[in-house]
Amino acid sequence: MCGIVGYVGTQPVVDILLDGLQQLEYRGYDSSGIAISDNGEIKIYKAEGKLQNLKDTLKSHNDEIQNAQMGIGHIRWATHGAPTLINAHPHTCNCGRLALVHNGIIENFKELKAELEKEGCVFRSQTDTEVVAHLIASIYGKIKNLTEAVRLATLRLEGAYALCVMHKDYKDTLVVTKRNAPLIIGLGEGEHFVASDVPAIIKHTKRAVYLVDNQIATLTPKSIDIINSHGQNIEYKVEILPWEPVALSKMGYKHFMLKEIHEQPDVIRNILVGKLHTTSDPVVLNEVKLTRDTLKNLNRIQIIACGTSLHAAMIGKYIIETFCGISVDVEPSSEYIYRRTVTDEHTLVIGVSQSGETADTLTAIKQSKAKGSHILIITNRPDSAMAREADSLIPVSAGIEVSVAATKSYVAQVMSFYLLAIYMAEIKGSLDSTILKNLKNEMMIIPQKIEQILSHKEEIQRCAKEYANTKDFIYIARGINYPTALEGALKLKEISYINATGYPAGELKHGPIAMLDETMPVLSILMHGSVYEKLLSNSEEAKARNARLIALTNSNDKKLNDLFDYIIKVPEVHEYLSPIIAIIPLQLLAYYIAEFLGKDVDQPRNLAKSVTVE
Ligand code: M6R
Repeated sequence: MCGIVGYVGTQPVVDILLDGLQQLEYRGYDSSGIAISDNGEIKIYKAEGKLQNLKDTLKSHNDEIQNAQMGIGHIRWATHGAPTLINAHPHTCNCGRLALVHNGIIENFKELKAELEKEGCVFRSQTDTEVVAHLIASIYGKIKNLTEAVRLATLRLEGAYALCVMHKDYKDTLVVTKRNAPLIIGLGEGEHFVASDVPAIIKHTKRAVYLVDNQIATLTPKSIDIINSHGQNIEYKVEILPWEPVALSKMGYKHFMLKEIHEQPDVIRNILVGKLHTTSDPVVLNEVKLTRDTLKNLNRIQIIACGTSLHAAMIGKYIIETFCGISVDVEPSSEYIYRRTVTDEHTLVIGVSQSGETADTLTAIKQSKAKGSHILIITNRPDSAMAREADSLIPVSAGIEVSVAATKSYVAQVMSFYLLAIYMAEIKGSLDSTILKNLKNEMMIIPQKIEQILSHKEEIQRCAKEYANTKDFIYIARGINYPTALEGALKLKEISYINATGYPAGELKHGPIAMLDETMPVLSILMHGSVYEKLLSNSEEAKARNARLIALTNSNDKKLNDLFDYIIKVPEVHEYLSPIIAIIPLQLLAYYIAEFLGKDVDQPRNLAKSVTVE
């Protein structure tokens, strides 16, 4: 949601903080700020809006910031209080001797604020974070030990937080802690880094410590001491970070989203390595820790996810039910957690998340875990909080996805569902061997088919120009591509702000058809298979209401030329695998429309890459 960075060492800190924040900009971008320690003075600089505004502000302070070697930084996605200068982090206590940055939400901030106001604390912002600054400072005033003050303060906090704290009395010390929000410590030579996520520090070091919930770390250039919430020293494990810095470059593409769309063929190849060898070998999925007997007897699966991951989950449901005959429920995590859900040790619960951090999904899987369900996580972040809750973990290995709009992580999630469904079907013996062979064969050549689409992207670019000025957009599909319609529409609304909606085509006549006229584009995902003819009829119904019709199709049917105003052709593919092919042009269409409209493609307004608040 927000991003935090920290540095203590011997290099000029400001460049390190700004670069780190830039790598975290996907987490929030409505204001930013830094606090640095310079000769015992804490200096704070903030700006509203994009990080560039902070960089511009700092240009006029060059002389006063260049010597600092310790500091903290923050990039905000507002939850409490508008994205104004006063609400931007870092926040301080009354006397300004303590500064901190925070990611998360303090749920009991109102009670704490009332208490602290009685003590004489004066609050300047509308944030929950400022409470933490006053609380730690108040405790510090009594005990004069920063680490201990942070520890005691965290015992009073309810909610989620990652905190990075500095104090005027400590010229080379940062204190950091976390609960239900990510935080890593990077280890350098005579220096330490702190960040919400790997991209902020990967340029500087590949060695890191993942702080565990409720631990408190005290960092100086040469030391790390970690204690638990009882104040006892903790041994920590140094891990090697998973990415190379090159993953964070646009590699010549105009936007990360376009680069990530183009990475999809390789992402799929990568997923299949070691899992799908030949069409006759069974799928290998050592990541699934359920015994063959349990899998054979499994009769219920629940899949929980949000946003794009939810759409991948819906495809997962379709194929698991079709291939394995197991009943699957899919539910948005935010709904799942606020009702009495029926789950137990006989239910397999699958959590799907690109970031592995999404608060709603994390809470949902913790709830199911407590009821004894086996938790299988499909994520692009094997180092995430969700991964740490998993009994079985399928990392989708899409590489870091920087653009807020998920593309390659979605395709990787869907592909993981195919592998899982085939793996289970082979154990259960529930799918015809000829179909199995065909599917495996097609899975292996899907990367080439995506490459074919990418090599004809001008066709989609032309379509984007023709339809960019529409206010609304409808996507229709049936069967396994209904989630594709939802995902295509989500991509378009996220980055172009056009009001796009996906419908199961059969539902059109039950209400949405009333909206159709010559101003409304309707995109029909018309892939060969069991519902082709049905969808064709639904498209004709739309044409009869004068809608502007676009077909996304792998059919050579000549009559489509008369029916549709625009045809986007994709390669032939088995119906069951068609969602992977069909989504590529829809990602490109959304991208080109947003680009044509001059929108901020990689950082759309009001969104953040990982949503760590419920
Ligand atoms: O990290 P997650 O997959 O759990 O995130 C879930 C959604 O927030 C995410 O998919 C969101 O919808 C994306 N912006 C989609 O492009």
